[in-house]
Amino acid sequence: MATAAYDEIADWYEERFLAGQTDDPLGVDRALRDLLGPGDGVCLEIGCGTGVHAASVRALGWRPVGVDLSAGMLRHARGRLAVARADAVRLPVRDAAVPAVIAMMVHTDMAAYPDVLREVARVLRPGGVFVHVGVHPCFCGGFADRSEPEAVVVRPGYLDRHWTTDSWTDQGIRDKVGAAHWPLAELLNLVVDAGLRLDRFREGGEPVPVVLAARARR
Ligand SMILES: C[S@@+](CC[C@H](N)C(=O)[O-])C[C@H]1O[C@@H](n2cnc3c(N)ncnc32)[C@H](O)[C@@H]1O
Repeated sequence: MATAAYDEIADWYEERFLAGQTDDPLGVDRALRDLLGPGDGVCLEIGCGTGVHAASVRALGWRPVGVDLSAGMLRHARGRLAVARADAVRLPVRDAAVPAVIAMMVHTDMAAYPDVLREVARVLRPGGVFVHVGVHPCFCGGFADRSEPEAVVVRPGYLDRHWTTDSWTDQGIRDKVGAAHWPLAELLNLVVDAGLRLDRFREGGEPVPVVLAARARR
C-alpha cells in the first residue's frame, strides 16, 4: 500500500494536535458516548488514527477495533485497540458481521465518503448502529473564516462540493492534508442513500458549533 497523507503528520497529530483537545472542547467524546451508548461486541472505527477514542468505546462495553490507511497513525494506535491497515472503501470484514461502526472526525479526509458509507452498510448487522462525528459542514471548511470565534464568516463556497487545503489557520489539519466538503443536506443524504436510517443528531463546540454528529441504523 502506498504511503498515506497522515504518515507525515502522525507525530504532530498525536503529540500536538490531540494534546490540545484533552478536555473535549468540541464535544467529540460526548457525542460519541451519547450516540453510541452502551453495548457489547465489536465496534469498528473506520479511520481510527492514533486510537484516541478506543478508551471511550471500551468504557461503554464495546470491543474497539480500528482500520486506517496510515501506518504512521497506526503506530500510535497499537496498544489502544486491535488495528489493521486497510482502506475504509474496502473493509476486510464480512457482510453483516459487526454490530457497530464509528467514523470519528474522518469524513472530510475521505473523498470517497459516499462509497465508505455503502461499505459501512455492507458490514453492519441488521439493526446495527453507525455513529458519524465530523467537522460541521455549515460552519467549518475552506469557505469559513473562524479567526474571530465570536463571528464566523461564511463566504461563498459552502454550496459547492469540493476538496481544498484553504484554511484560516496553520494550526489545523486542512492546510496540511486537505479536506473534502459536502453541504449539510448532501452529507445527510449520503447516509440515507447508503441504506442507513438516521435517528439522532448532536452538535458540539461553542459559541458556533465545530462538530456535527449523527446516528443511523442499518
Ligand atoms: C483526522 S484523522 C482522525 C483519526 C481519529 N478518528 C481521531 O478522531 O483522532 C483522519 C484519519 O482518517 C484516516 N483515513 C483517511 N482516509 C482513509 C481511508 N480511505 N481509509 C481508512 N482510513 C483513512 C487517516 O489516515 C487519518 O488517520
